[in-house]
Amino acid sequence: DMMREIVGLSVLEKQIREKLKVRNVIIVPGNSDEYEWVKQEMGKACVAYLQQIVKDHSVIAVTGGTTMAAIAEVMSPLNNDNDCLFVPARGGVGEEAENQASRIVSEMAKKANGEYRLLYVPDPISESAYHTLINEPMIKEILGQITNSNIVIHGIGDAKTMAKRRKTSEETMKKLEMHHAASEAFGYYFDDHGNIVHKVRTVGLQLEDLASIEHVIAVAGGKSKAEAIESYFKQGKSDLLITDEAAAKQILRG
Ligand code: F6P
Repeated sequence: DMMREIVGLSVLEKQIREKLKVRNVIIVPGNSDEYEWVKQEMGKACVAYLQQIVKDHSVIAVTGGTTMAAIAEVMSPLNNDNDCLFVPARGGVGEEAENQASRIVSEMAKKANGEYRLLYVPDPISESAYHTLINEPMIKEILGQITNSNIVIHGIGDAKTMAKRRKTSEETMKKLEMHHAASEAFGYYFDDHGNIVHKVRTVGLQLEDLASIEHVIAVAGGKSKAEAIESYFKQGKSDLLITDEAAAKQILRG
């Protein structure tokens, strides 16, 4: 539309598609580091996209964070006759209750007229508890739904910001620094080349599951996330990036 042409966003979208080698890019005006409403604008773009791709009984897996919470805020009914199911993509990864995937999926489901299921796992989790839990029938069932989801919506964070927000141990902090961790998504930390340098142990979607999921949507904006977004897409299989103008311009500068 006219507004997009005035600010040249479709030109930016093409440049980002080429630079990050991602199939599809949607850019909204503004900088979400500065204004909260920019996250909601990314959220509206995400909801509009979901309305196009959602099918009857689609299973939609969602991660946590403030961007996903903003999508939940602006969620509206999806154009399908049969309910879709919202599930958290992974178990807890150290977010506050408000920004946890389980709270976010319940709000999304309510507003989209869909259903949701929760994944009850403590966080962080020991190796032995992990093996016991994934064999519990109820947990097994929902884990099956998660790994067979049709649509994944996820955030991308700056590695250092996320490690601090999660009150990560001194030891892991050092490890992340030593390996130059730049981005974080799904509980995985990546360096500038997209190599995994650390992983939070929790149940749910694993990075390798993404390859077989039809729609993987990354939503992340703000000038401060430029390096993180670039790092994630060095390896990322996500086929749509929804971002903002400030992140996009900074990525092209870098
Ligand atoms: O912790 C969940 C998560 O989706 C992370 O994987 C990601 O790095 C982060 O949240 C993004 O958070 P925000 O949208 O608040 O920047």
